[in-house]
Amino acid sequence: MVLTKVLLILVLCILTQSNNGGHISILVSKTGLESAKDFLINRVISTTIPLQLPEIEKKVRIPLIGKVRMGLSNIQIDSVDVHSSKIETGKDGIFLSVSGATANLSMDWSYTYRASFFEISDHGDAFVKVKGIDVKTTVTLLDDYGSLKVASRESDCTVENIDIHINGGASWLYQGVVDAFEKTIISTVENTVSKKILEKMKKLDSFLQSLPKERKIDDSAAVNLTFTGNPVLGNSSVKVAISGLFMPKGDDVKVSGSHSSPSSFFREVNRMVTISIEEEVFNSATLVYFNLVLMQAKVMHLVIGETKNGSILSTSDWKLILPELYKHYPDDKMMLNMSVTSPPAVKITENGIDATIQLDIAIDVQDSGKVLSVARISSVVNVVCSAEIVDENLTGSLRLNDFNATMKWSKIGVFQSDYVQAATSRVLEALFLPYVNTRLKRGFPLPIPSDFTVKNIEIAYANSAILVRTNIGTSTSTNH
Ligand SMILES: *[C@@H]1O[C@H](CO)[C@@H](O)[C@H](O)[C@H]1NC(C)=O
Ligand SMILES: *[C@@H]1O[C@H](CO)[C@@H](O)[C@H](O)[C@H]1NC(C)=O
Ligand SMILES: *[C@@H]1O[C@H](CO)[C@@H](O)[C@H](O)[C@H]1NC(C)=O
Ligand SMILES: *[C@@H]1O[C@H](CO)[C@@H](O)[C@H](O)[C@H]1NC(C)=O
Ligand SMILES: *[C@@H]1O[C@H](CO)[C@@H](O)[C@H](O)[C@H]1NC(C)=O
Ligand SMILES: *[C@@H]1O[C@H](CO)[C@@H](O)[C@H](O)[C@H]1NC(C)=O
Ligand SMILES: *[C@@H]1O[C@H](CO)[C@@H](O)[C@H](O)[C@H]1NC(C)=O
Repeated sequence: MVLTKVLLILVLCILTQSNNGGHISILVSKTGLESAKDFLINRVISTTIPLQLPEIEKKVRIPLIGKVRMGLSNIQIDSVDVHSSKIETGKDGIFLSVSGATANLSMDWSYTYRASFFEISDHGDAFVKVKGIDVKTTVTLLDDYGSLKVASRESDCTVENIDIHINGGASWLYQGVVDAFEKTIISTVENTVSKKILEKMKKLDSFLQSLPKERKIDDSAAVNLTFTGNPVLGNSSVKVAISGLFMPKGDDVKVSGSHSSPSSFFREVNRMVTISIEEEVFNSATLVYFNLVLMQAKVMHLVIGETKNGSILSTSDWKLILPELYKHYPDDKMMLNMSVTSPPAVKITENGIDATIQLDIAIDVQDSGKVLSVARISSVVNVVCSAEIVDENLTGSLRLNDFNATMKWSKIGVFQSDYVQAATSRVLEALFLPYVNTRLKRGFPLPIPSDFTVKNIEIAYANSAILVRTNIGTSTSTNH
């Protein structure tokens, strides 16, 4: 479980841009890799210590005594101290090394031998200081049909020397143990540590393979989390890309995202992770929601009969804006049926997010129990969206930039252009945008596994992408 988390960081560290249809890329910077490294080392130590080593037994010839059967048991590494470690990226993969670490090892010793007619035996404990432990590990991660997998893993551990302190025993014991067991203890430590690390990497692999390929957003949509291409190893950074496109949930509407210039968005940043979300992700989202409604009703429409605060719309409220309407249908209940007539187009520039929405507004009234369509306005609305991160969700809110509105038809005579503008403005500001903003406020989850939290977020806009720069923490670790 814990290991999974460790691995996760590493994975996170790996998310980003090799553009085979990847629209979200995750770049783990040098600071991100450093944190991942410290996190991994601490987790590997805390999940493996105390580490039990196999027992060792030998028959040893001791001068003046003869053949002695000696054994070491309960050999256990109790603690490890790492002073120096580093993580590097290279063409062979991600390389993590620890150098000059020390460890405390405890064990029990025992011996027996025959002297004349007696069998003599004794036992006790010992303490071993293991010095100069160097560990080198290399992991290569590859895209395997949309999942990341550990393609190769290597681990090598070497120990420089050990100091053995024996409690009790006969005078010859210390030299006997050193002569017979020193090399074996060293090689046992080396082998066990290497083996243990390889086991951890195997778990990393299973963890990576188990990452979900899509994430449900709501009943209508899911996001495609398929990895698109191998992680790209930079100079002390790792980048992975995932599709990131929205897909309809539970049906087979095809959404295709065009690919924009995969320009290099990444500058030197001091956050651990930069998540780049291309505008295609947003366009795929509007397309999914649009297509979905299209299948049901041919247009994305929204019928509003009351304001957000629950008051019923009535022609009398609109007396000043649409006097003709009030004159024909005084104090009637009014409904606005808004239809988005083509998928909204989202554009991201250095200045922020803009979207253009084609919106038709049908004005209906309820007169003597019957719903009558009275007029229809066609508009092109430009909105500005500001993005924010709330919890682990990317949220936004729309602000009206400008709009065009024309009367398509009317049963109550031609409206003056000023009235059309005023009515549209009021519909947009008081009804349409608040409604859309309520949905956007909930937001959409960032592609960050649930065990992790984001901290110190900074949002920046680049040409055709949003950059979310953040530090990553876990529920157990403090910030870094
Ligand atoms: C998810 O994205 C990948 C990579 O672009 C693509 O191959 C795959 O077909 C997509 N999955 C679905 C269900 O659309
Ligand atoms: C190892 O043991 C020594 C002596 O008992 C102690 O001073 C040192 O702190 C121990 N090291 C670790 C990493 O626990
Ligand atoms: C990568 O790092 C090395 C050593 O720090 C440096 O010499 C080299 O120019 C860097 N390469 C790039 C592409 O930044
Ligand atoms: C409800 O909202 C409308 C406009 O959105 C406003 O004119 C009206 O005063 C509000 N009513 C209440 C009870 O707040
Ligand atoms: C809203 O308008 C659309 C398209 O004009 C129409 O199909 C739909 O029936 C209307 N809905 C209501 C409740 O009037
Ligand atoms: C409104 O129409 C004018 C002229 O057709 C056009 O230049 C302008 O960009 C339009 N504005 C919007 C918000 O579409
Ligand atoms: C994050 O977004 C998802 C999907 O829209 C939503 O279900 C969830 O409630 C949101 N979480 C928060 C804390 O708003």
